[in-house]
Amino acid sequence: MEVINIETARKKISTRGFLDIELDPTLDLFQEIEILKKEKKAIILAHYYQESDIQDIADYIGDSLGLAQQAEKTEADIIVFAGVHFMAETAKILNPKKKVLLPDLNAGCSLADSAPPALFKKFKDKYPDHVVISYINCSAGIKALSDIICTSSNAAYIVESVPKEQPIIFAPDKNLGSWLIKKTGRDMILWNGACMVHEIFSLEKIIKLRIRHPKAKFIAHPECEESVLRLADFIGSTTGLLKYTEKEDHNEFIVATETGILHQMQKSSPHKIFIAAPPNNSCACNDCPHMKLNTLEKLYISMKYEMPEILMDEEIRIAAKKPIERMLEISRNYGL
Ligand code: 13P
Ligand code: SF4
Repeated sequence: MEVINIETARKKISTRGFLDIELDPTLDLFQEIEILKKEKKAIILAHYYQESDIQDIADYIGDSLGLAQQAEKTEADIIVFAGVHFMAETAKILNPKKKVLLPDLNAGCSLADSAPPALFKKFKDKYPDHVVISYINCSAGIKALSDIICTSSNAAYIVESVPKEQPIIFAPDKNLGSWLIKKTGRDMILWNGACMVHEIFSLEKIIKLRIRHPKAKFIAHPECEESVLRLADFIGSTTGLLKYTEKEDHNEFIVATETGILHQMQKSSPHKIFIAAPPNNSCACNDCPHMKLNTLEKLYISMKYEMPEILMDEEIRIAAKKPIERMLEISRNYGL
């Protein structure tokens, strides 16, 4: 492996967001990462949308809620976050004294980007009597302006935990927000954001696919558009979708979420058939370009150099921690 000094490493991170270092192609990265985990008392937390190799080396794989819960309780010295920036940021908010690494700082999120804090503040100021529930897919700046955070697996519980007469702003995902309005009967004001991955499923192609696979169950993530959700036999977070495929007797599933989850579905139900719902472009599957910026190589290099690290303003961190802790507490109360 090419060795660089700390100054060069810092420069690379400030210009590229990750360490572009040549690796010896014969290096057994799985073995090397295991050694680094022990040496540095590090834990790898990975989202289901990561590439299969990363999922296989992770200490914990989960959805956004599971990852936040793991981050809250870990005793590791270093948290290596194989996910996107807002997820690693959440881990840092909960663990100010620990080192939180993200293999590529460019791993952002179109949904989080759709809500710049300054604009959101102006929007929120128009509704001073409203409680703000924000989906965890947002920046620390938005979290700091929120009253409670939610994820796709606890969103309905979080909304229902707010007294009925209390008006709510829901941000930043309008699709998840619309689904929650239908599910809970609460009339919420929605921020107009969306996820680039879940918005581009092709309704027409899904309908054709269902005709070709009449026995398949169609399952979807609530970040999908309403027209797609209307067709779904089951709607759930990534963990919810995975559990559904494990417990249902059906043998065939058409899955409308990022394709990374298919790795775990296939692993836990090897005899079942999983078909990725197609997007409205020429691709057969639907990868999140942000999630897929992390690679096994970048993961290894980030552990070796303990960079790039998530750093944040302490005032924002403290303000952002409150609504996350509220979410974790409500989730515990519901046994989630
Ligand atoms: P969950 O992890 O809550 O299923 O959300 C999916 C997602 O889009 C994460 O970026
Ligand atoms: Fe963001 Fe969508 Fe990618 Fe999740 S799948 S990280 S919401 S862009």
